Amino acid sequence: MTTVWSIGVGALLAALASIALGAESNAALEFRAAVAATPDLSRGEQLFDTCRACHNSDGSGTSDGNVAAIGGQHYRVVLQQLVDFRHDKRWDIRMEHFVDRHHLKGPQELADVAAYVSSLPRPWPPSFGDGKDLKLGAGVYLARCAGCHGATGQGSNASKTPRIAGQHHAYTVRQLQDAADGRRPNMTNLHTRIVSQLSFDEINGIADYLSRLAARN
Ligand code: HEC
Ligand code: HEC
Repeated sequence: MTTVWSIGVGALLAALASIALGAESNAALEFRAAVAATPDLSRGEQLFDTCRACHNSDGSGTSDGNVAAIGGQHYRVVLQQLVDFRHDKRWDIRMEHFVDRHHLKGPQELADVAAYVSSLPRPWPPSFGDGKDLKLGAGVYLARCAGCHGATGQGSNASKTPRIAGQHHAYTVRQLQDAADGRRPNMTNLHTRIVSQLSFDEINGIADYLSRLAARN
């Protein structure tokens, strides 16, 4: 009886583990398939019609910080975010709806629209902060963030690190608060820890500093 019970539990745990692993690898598989595809820019431009309503034709988003500026974001970063929204690893009801399988069929369409977004010039200017914590923000950014995001907030396509320069101040503030609260599940624990140590003034200043940087390359 004990043996049967333990086999039962073992099988159940194995089944649960494979469900969890399955969810993990579906996102990873979709990202890999999309990266391997050859993007079609003109198809990407057509697909972007769905996105314009919120992100604007130039990918500038909204100045209230509700909708992200996405024009000029690195290709692999855009792709990763789209995959994350599709696989419940990043949460926003609007994005989850508009990048689901009814709107973007599979890896090829993800690649097409991501390539179009990253081909747009970084929109300028975004909305800035109030200027009061700028100096504080610059110091903290250069000490704790620039190592990965780059001295001018330019990020990196190769390491899938987002370009965060030229982003709306209020959007960056919100993302940093969400990250600190664990509401960006695909961020590493290290990132969550770094961000959760920031004070509100530091967050305000970093976001303000970044909004005023026009990222190069
Ligand atoms: C109904 C409005 C809406 C539509 C349509 C929409 N988005 Fe978004 N998008 C948002 C919002 C809001 C956010 C910010 C989500 C958050 O706060 O985390 C966002 C975030 C993003 C991000 C992440 C930006 C970052 O800095 O990490 C990407 C990439 C993106 N959208 C691409 C797209 C693409 C491509 C499409 C079209 C296929 C699209 N969006 C359609 C509202 C929309
Ligand atoms: C170890 C490298 C590393 C360090 C250090 C780091 N970041 Fe990041 N950051 C990343 C990566 C990689 C991502 C993408 C994570 C994801 O896809 O969710 C990211 C995502 C972000 C985002 C979300 C961007 C968006 O468009 O949604 C913001 C904002 C951000 N980081 C700000 C910061 C700030 C501010 C600091 C310093 C206090 C910092 N990061 C330190 C690597 C780093």
